[in-house]
Amino acid sequence: MSDAKATLPATPPPGAAADWTIPQAWSDYTPAEHAMWDRLFERQSAMLPGRVVPAFLDGLDVLRMSKPGIPDFGELSERLTGLTGWKVVAVPGLVPDDVFFRHLANRTFVAGRFIRRPDQIDYLEEPDVFHDVFGHVPLLANPVFADYMQAYGAGGLRSLELGAMHRLARLYWYTVEFGLIRDGDALRIYGAGIASSHGESLFALDDPSPNRIGFDLQRVMRTRYRIDDYQQTYFVIDSFEALLRETLDTDFAPLYRALDTAPDIATDAIVEGDRIFHRGCQAHALAGKPAAE
Ligand SMILES: [Fe+2]
Repeated sequence: MSDAKATLPATPPPGAAADWTIPQAWSDYTPAEHAMWDRLFERQSAMLPGRVVPAFLDGLDVLRMSKPGIPDFGELSERLTGLTGWKVVAVPGLVPDDVFFRHLANRTFVAGRFIRRPDQIDYLEEPDVFHDVFGHVPLLANPVFADYMQAYGAGGLRSLELGAMHRLARLYWYTVEFGLIRDGDALRIYGAGIASSHGESLFALDDPSPNRIGFDLQRVMRTRYRIDDYQQTYFVIDSFEALLRETLDTDFAPLYRALDTAPDIATDAIVEGDRIFHRGCQAHALAGKPAAE
């Protein structure tokens, strides 16, 4: 989900099926590629307990993702399908939005098959198998989150018809990729972009720089986001149930029309009505230093 997709060709690359999927070719991964997964897995699984929503750790466990090496999507899908009806398939890289949404609406998660090189361990532009599988798949084992992702896919297809894809892209960005969730008085990570990033797992929860404000659907759909650095604002949901319920209960077509005349909100802004958990000092963004993965 990024602006980069706008430049993708409309047809799949050679070797990919009409739905853009490719074989994962698991046996083609080298020992060095498996070792890279293990290194990333170890680093994140040591860091996340107490930071990530418990359902994420439950997902890692029930999907037996601590097994060494890059997961075999076939095996992973077998377990996942038994739990929530989802499966994971490989794609060559970013796919067009309609393709992405259609897969989600059919309870299929598309994942990059490649893994970052050692020199990319702390910075990566395009999502690799570690981001896609470690970051996204554990929560697909949670029945409520699994339903949210399917509803998102169906909503995405409708947003394309209504010319409002950018609104729904913001919802994905600030929930599925960079969402925080309340856990009593504490905040926890559930967004895949945070959970798969060593640096952002610390930054999103502990750093005084970013705003942390209560989730509000219209507010989120008006808020720009950063693709080049850590987020300047994180939105906090109360529960997966509340997020799913709001998504299913909202009639998006009139909402998109109403938002047409509402100005965008800057990435660092606090606006009237915000439920503020933390007002960010924005020191990180002001310093202009690049983020570490
Ligand atoms: Fe992602």
